[in-house]
Amino acid sequence: MKMKLVFGVLLFSGLALKVNAQNTIPKDIQPLLQKYTCTACHTVDKRLVGPSFRDIRKKNYKPEKIVDLIYAPQPKNWPGYPPMAPMKNVPKPEALKIARWITTLK
Ligand code: HEC
Repeated sequence: MKMKLVFGVLLFSGLALKVNAQNTIPKDIQPLLQKYTCTACHTVDKRLVGPSFRDIRKKNYKPEKIVDLIYAPQPKNWPGYPPMAPMKNVPKPEALKIARWITTLK
């Protein structure tokens, strides 16, 4: 009886995690966003200082284009937001990793 309950709880939390997967930042991306302070201004689905990553995704940029925009943001693309500072300190492979992840958001 007790085992059954434990199993049920495990199964339920597994399902809950799966449902949430679209909103959570993958384990290999989160440290990058933190290291380069992206999360100070961006979240996955809510406006903060900058637009949410999901809203950025809606512009249908190619990953390479997102990398260009990280290095040289175009504030005119986001009326009503303060300009983002160019983030040239992010190495290209890591910027591309973040960019690829953004393009997978639903
Ligand atoms: C100090 C705040 C701040 C930080 C830190 C920051 N951003 Fe931004 N970001 C913004 C704002 C504000 C905008 C919208 C205005 C703009 O594009 O200049 C923006 C826009 C963007 C865009 C959309 C560009 C476009 O033209 O559509 C991308 C992509 C982006 N940020 C990615 C990142 C990534 C990745 C990082 C971390 C490496 C990061 N940002 C760090 C504030 C920030």
